[in-house]
Amino acid sequence: MGYKVAVAGATGNVGREMLSILAERAFPADEVVALASRKSQGTECSFGDKTLKVKALDTYDFSDVDICLMSAGGSVSKEWSPKIAAQGAVVIDNSSAWRMDPDVPLIVPEVNADAAAGFRKKGIIANPNCSTAQLVVALKPLHDAATIKRVVVSTYQSVSGAGKDAMDELFSQTKSVYTNDELVTKKFPKRIAFNVIPQIDVFMEDGYTKEEWKMMAETKKILDPKIKLTATCVRVPVFIGHAEAVTIEFEKPISVDEVTSLLRNAPGCLVIDKREPGGYVTPYECAGEDATYISRIREDATVENGISLWCVSDNLRKGAALNAIQIAECLVNRKLLQPKKKAA
Ligand SMILES: NC(=O)c1ccc[n+]([C@@H]2O[C@H](COP(=O)([O-])OP(=O)(O)OC[C@H]3O[C@@H](n4cnc5c(N)ncnc54)[C@H](OP(=O)(O)O)[C@@H]3O)[C@@H](O)[C@H]2O)c1
Repeated sequence: MGYKVAVAGATGNVGREMLSILAERAFPADEVVALASRKSQGTECSFGDKTLKVKALDTYDFSDVDICLMSAGGSVSKEWSPKIAAQGAVVIDNSSAWRMDPDVPLIVPEVNADAAAGFRKKGIIANPNCSTAQLVVALKPLHDAATIKRVVVSTYQSVSGAGKDAMDELFSQTKSVYTNDELVTKKFPKRIAFNVIPQIDVFMEDGYTKEEWKMMAETKKILDPKIKLTATCVRVPVFIGHAEAVTIEFEKPISVDEVTSLLRNAPGCLVIDKREPGGYVTPYECAGEDATYISRIREDATVENGISLWCVSDNLRKGAALNAIQIAECLVNRKLLQPKKKAA
């Protein structure tokens, strides 16, 4: 007897990826339902070699659902996650709505899977921001070995991180440049085609953007509140895959060889680091892949115990859908959740 899984936001970038990963990994589900807004009701989504008819989230009865994978945005999650949890389904949410709630675990399974047991307080588990997820996968083994004091990170984030409309905007702006048509900018604060934008999400009072603030706060919650982190988050004209240039200052000495060996053996990480042209991973190559790729590992001689590296991952997979499904697998494998049908 398997689980009943609802994917809320199934027509979006993350939801579509969730459906394909559930099928790929043969998640133990007896039934999977695709939910979205009323405007998508009756349309179809692919699930492995099947198609699912999309149903409207706001009229759906969750009483026999075990797990709801939620990727329908922050305001929808704020309203619906508590209602869905009240019907006895565990909500694994991709938005930022619940991440910093002290009663909601914020999980990257390679880093803090043990925190999953805390889901019972609210019936909700949060998935981190896409840039944080890949970063903490790389930082965790290094922190365990040499204790991280400070991290300086600059991100190069793809447009898919801002949803399907943002991908369409990059595509249509790029086309307009070649056809000499007027460029229409709606999703981004400036044109994104052939440009980079040093703003993701809104500005905070201190001059950081909310995306940068999320990386700082979420890294502390997932990994260690003592880690100091400063971020500059930049949107780049790439469809899928986030890259990060990371400089890490450790308390204890750690060599490039040690970092390489730790990351080679760390869950979720793959090191591709040849010091020759092309001997590193770029966002284009990581699209559709599960790993967090690490390249360009080198000493930062400007600080004591400093290391710099380059880190790339598919934001729709490890940054969102894959991480959410790994959390669900964690609930199943650790026997933290029984299917309702079996219990009945
Ligand atoms: N993309 C990433 O890399 C990433 C990473 C981490 C977290 N996230 C988060 O994941 C969430 C989804 O992101 P996305 O990139 O998949 O966005 P998206 O491509 O814009 O898709 C949004 C999805 O939400 C659905 N939705 C919107 N309003 C709804 C409503 N009132 N009721 C039910 N469903 C509704 C949409 O359905 P319709 O098609 O019917 O409108 C669509 O399925 C966001 O909270 C985002 O911040 C995204």
